[in-house]
Amino acid sequence: MTKLWGGRFTKTAEEWVDAFGASIGFDQQLVEEDIQGSLAHVKMLGKTGILTSEEVTTITGGLETLLEKAKKQELEFSVQNEDIHLNLEKLLIDEIGPVGGKLHTGRSRNDQVATDMHLYLRNQIEEILVEVKALQQALLTQAKGNVETLIPGYTHLQRAQPVSFAHHLMAYFWMLDRDYDRYQDSLKRVNVSPLGAGALAGTTFPIDRHYSAELLGFDGIYENSLDAVSDRDFIIEFLSSSSMLMMHLSRLCEELIMWSSQEFNFIEIDDTFATGSSIMPQKKNPDMAELIRGKTGRVYGSLFSLLTILKGLPLAYNKDMQEDKEGMFDAVTTVKGSLKIFTGIIETMTVKKETMEAATNADFSNATELADYLANKGLPFREAHEVVGKLVLLCIQKGIFLLDLPFSDYKQASELFAEDIYEVLQPKTVVARRNSAGGTGFEQVKKALEKAEGVIAEKRL
Ligand code: ARG
Repeated sequence: MTKLWGGRFTKTAEEWVDAFGASIGFDQQLVEEDIQGSLAHVKMLGKTGILTSEEVTTITGGLETLLEKAKKQELEFSVQNEDIHLNLEKLLIDEIGPVGGKLHTGRSRNDQVATDMHLYLRNQIEEILVEVKALQQALLTQAKGNVETLIPGYTHLQRAQPVSFAHHLMAYFWMLDRDYDRYQDSLKRVNVSPLGAGALAGTTFPIDRHYSAELLGFDGIYENSLDAVSDRDFIIEFLSSSSMLMMHLSRLCEELIMWSSQEFNFIEIDDTFATGSSIMPQKKNPDMAELIRGKTGRVYGSLFSLLTILKGLPLAYNKDMQEDKEGMFDAVTTVKGSLKIFTGIIETMTVKKETMEAATNADFSNATELADYLANKGLPFREAHEVVGKLVLLCIQKGIFLLDLPFSDYKQASELFAEDIYEVLQPKTVVARRNSAGGTGFEQVKKALEKAEGVIAEKRL
């Protein structure tokens, strides 16, 4: 089969070599973006008088037919035509005749493919923003029902200080909010038009890049034609924002997995998001959380893969850059899927409030409170720390907790202790009193929930 670029060649292509070089197997996902780009390009060619209005009408009609067929998945692509751009051009010529060959005037596949990916990522990022917000909403709703639910807070995975479960969940809300901002901000760099940069140097035709950019809803154009066709920063940035988001999800996955273990028993994941074992009848495994934790690795992989692909490339386009797509598509699928599943997990999980609270009564996570108590009465904090450390040791030796220790032991440790310590040591009091800005005190948590409500309400998408 003759190639659209075959003029300069004397040998016909080998099928197996074609198959290796082709990207149609995956870049057909860009079919609609490619046609949209072409529709804008041909309209611009008409406006600038480069093509006649009849030519523009015929080509536009042909492209619209292809778009309809694409939506119904009726287009047939072939590996011989290498990629989505050449496949569509061939299909267009089949559809409307040789005039279809005028579409590529003043354009190259290099600016075409870049345009497609800018359009694609713009659409996908907007969809991802909606999903991030939905997960933030799910966290907020779950948090609202758990302001006074106590859970041990950990550092080094050792019980540290009790916190409100709402406060713990809201930590993820704010992480996701930064993710949202990162994606949103990246749209500034995604929504820029490379169209009309040509192969690398611009074109001799009197094109109007601003016009085609405007038709495609871009905010502006690349200033430099070499940069326009060589730049893949916007994909790297997308993969980087996605890696960060997945890392956040993965950390919460890890907590959900721990919390749903028999050892913690703090939550139960809904049946919908769990699976059983083929051999052990009693098992209920948190598969979806584990899978999202695992998929995080794939997204990091795509980020590193693209950074590595680009690091030694001279300007402008090099075929290496065709390798930019699969990781990007894969990350889009992974991020969207993970966010959707996660929202479901958070919305439907059962919070075992009693077990969580019981855990806060069976540890030394109120010890800081006791040191603060002494410090409040004038003892230097370092000395207070020492006094309480000794009391903890005494409890460990007796096999009890601070609330069980007789007052005589407290009195002996420091004259500053009064009977009110038993109230001060209650986990609820411990949490309630941490009312510094951004702390876990119930008043602070309620304020944070209100603020979060406002943050969600202000989101564009
Ligand atoms: N399939 C190619 C890619 O994805 C499109 C651009 C090809 N340009 C070229 N000069 N071979 O990168």
